[in-house]
Amino acid sequence: MVTKNQLLSKEVFAIYGLGNVGGSIAAVWLRAGAKVIGVDISKTLLQQIKEGNSHKKEPFLSETFSKSIKKKTFSLTSNGIDASKKSSIKIIVVPVGLKNKKVDLNSVIQVTKNISKGLKKGDTIILSPSVPPGTTEKIVLPILEKQSKLKGEKDFNVIYNPERIFEGRAVKDIEENYPAIISGLGPKSLKMAEKLFTLISKKGVLIMPTLAEAEAEKLFEGAYRDVNIALANELADYCEKIGINFWETRKGANSQPFCHLHYPGTGVGGLCIPVYPRIIIEDASKIGKVMNLLQYSRKINDNMPKKCVDDSINMLMKNKIKPINAKIAVLGLGFRGEVTDTRLSPTYDVVDEFLKKGCIISVHDPYIFEDKTLPKSVSLTKNLSEATKNADLIFISSDHKTYSKLNSKSFPKGRKSILFFDGRNILNSKSFPKGLLHTIGIGKT
Ligand SMILES: NC(=O)c1ccc[n+]([C@@H]2O[C@H](COP(=O)([O-])OP(=O)(O)OC[C@H]3O[C@@H](n4cnc5c(N)ncnc54)[C@H](O)[C@@H]3O)[C@@H](O)[C@H]2O)c1
Repeated sequence: MVTKNQLLSKEVFAIYGLGNVGGSIAAVWLRAGAKVIGVDISKTLLQQIKEGNSHKKEPFLSETFSKSIKKKTFSLTSNGIDASKKSSIKIIVVPVGLKNKKVDLNSVIQVTKNISKGLKKGDTIILSPSVPPGTTEKIVLPILEKQSKLKGEKDFNVIYNPERIFEGRAVKDIEENYPAIISGLGPKSLKMAEKLFTLISKKGVLIMPTLAEAEAEKLFEGAYRDVNIALANELADYCEKIGINFWETRKGANSQPFCHLHYPGTGVGGLCIPVYPRIIIEDASKIGKVMNLLQYSRKINDNMPKKCVDDSINMLMKNKIKPINAKIAVLGLGFRGEVTDTRLSPTYDVVDEFLKKGCIISVHDPYIFEDKTLPKSVSLTKNLSEATKNADLIFISSDHKTYSKLNSKSFPKGRKSILFFDGRNILNSKSFPKGLLHTIGIGKT
């Protein structure tokens, strides 16, 4: 039996992609005592890591990196071939997104090619991003075998291990909160996966019979959540229309153990939940299968920014404020509360919808001070007073904790009454005079 120390002293890890997920994986292996080479094409990110300035919202990362750089157990490079030559375990954690509605595997392919040029007998390759079923075996494996002239399973191990993390508590999620899902090309690869992941995962491992099933498992988690959110959005709208409170109703319904209604909101963002159903939809279309429920759920969730803006415009009109030139403060650019990640944030669509109505927009986020995607006419600030100055309506788009403290008295006395649209149910309705606050899912009788 190989002990943890024996195994880790023998192996060198190369982690390709040091973003939210890869950075967290690197930190977990460093905390376990491994030697790690971090590989990323972003020189800016490598520099930030060296300076101890990276991954600000993810606990444990920057301090683990700084300590490990000092101890010389962590080195950084943008040379993926060299890192492959120097390492025995290579973990791929680069992004997989959508380009023109098609799954974009370019970064995975690029990294795999680099790895193949330094691949040696006895090495282990672990793929982590969420990918269409079949990617590890049909795309990654042939690239590795062709360049290296080695054979997967016989000469090197091939593992798929999807990462299951919640941004902001990634290290704890990997180390403590979930079992690691593992799968291998064959029994030898699987044995290696088991040996490795039991070292870092307190909850142990959950073995999937095939690589493709492990790949599909991860997509299903996201698809389930997207459909569930669409259901919550539809039921919340129903509650608004019949004049009842979705949130109270949800509490009651979820007290039954088979009911797990999620939250309605202004939209679904980030690189995971809105992307995974689309990966399945696109993959299924190749065999002529239409994924009706996934498509319909996407449609509901994609329409939420427009629906919420339309409801806000109705509030303005009811209060005799014309939408043209109305001042709107949109709070939160992160795709959800407490994250600095803005990718696919519904706030972008919220802003576009308000602009179509002729409104003047300022966006506030406590953590994001710069953004190149927002239209030029829209100001972005971290100063809440500046964002809400003279606002006719405050629109809560992301549930950053700091917004929960806002109420009608948060603004200087003598100001006209500001209207509030709470797209995340984060405000305390008791702190608002009647008629000034609309919360998603709460109908008025
Ligand atoms: N963000 C999440 O919460 C989450 C959770 C579970 C799984 N995932 C999966 O993990 C993948 C990665 O997510 P992320 O949030 O870490 O992405 P990210 O964009 O934060 O990080 C990816 C990193 O890879 C680097 N990179 C891109 N191409 C490269 C290349 N060719 N060589 C080396 N480095 C390269 C980028 O510079 C970036 O630093 C996602 O596509 C998703 O499938 C994400």
